[in-house]
Amino acid sequence: MRYFIGNWKMFGVPKSINILKKINSFYSKDIKRSNYRIIITPPYTLIGNYSNYFKKKKILIGSQNCYHKDLFSSNTGAISPFMLKKSGATYTLIGHSDNRGEGDTDTLLKDKVKFSLRNNLKIVFCIGESKKQKKNKQTQTVLKKQLFKVLEKKFNSNNIIVAYEPIWSIGTGELPTTEELNKTIKFIKKILKGIFRKKIPPVLYGGSVDGNSVKLYRDIKEIDGFLIGGASKSSKKFIDIIRNYYR
Ligand code: 13P
Repeated sequence: MRYFIGNWKMFGVPKSINILKKINSFYSKDIKRSNYRIIITPPYTLIGNYSNYFKKKKILIGSQNCYHKDLFSSNTGAISPFMLKKSGATYTLIGHSDNRGEGDTDTLLKDKVKFSLRNNLKIVFCIGESKKQKKNKQTQTVLKKQLFKVLEKKFNSNNIIVAYEPIWSIGTGELPTTEELNKTIKFIKKILKGIFRKKIPPVLYGGSVDGNSVKLYRDIKEIDGFLIGGASKSSKKFIDIIRNYYR
């Protein structure tokens, strides 16, 4: 199974659902659709509305983040995994570098993972090194730490996806070479094997993925899909990625 996940970040109003309708219409007709899954993470404001519309359709709606507490609490502005699940979200991203940069520590991330899984919300756990860390050859050390600090054997790996997003590649057009990426994804899978033993989660790549860059990576068998930012805000660009992936 391959995954194409579109992360809208701070983008979208109710009528942006038209973008998803076009993607869904392509997906419903694609003869290769049993090979892959499409998940879109709009902002919180649209999750209920979009999930309701796509309930019986093919594409899945997820969240970009969640609060690190379960059920209800007195934290102003916070949204729990329970509330997201009840609003129709199937997945939530956790640990995106945007949120790590704004104070999401490993301890908070672990709680987010725990409470999401407890509420049957599947997770897409994001990891990635900074430009400086890459320059200092710390990529593997950083990724290993990010994985070990949060993921545990007791978590059900069927409900987990890992997304490798090098921070220096997000929104920059700068891409890892195929050799670099191949090596890093293999490394991540080795670490995941250490944690989960038999059934390891799929590992995606994210960072400046578009219809062109996907061609560089489509032959790397170890990559189980892509986490797409900018190009997921256009139905044409998003569909191009899938078309070019399958040729
Ligand atoms: P871009 O595809 O815009 O580089 O963003 C990647 C990303 O951060 C997705 O979560």
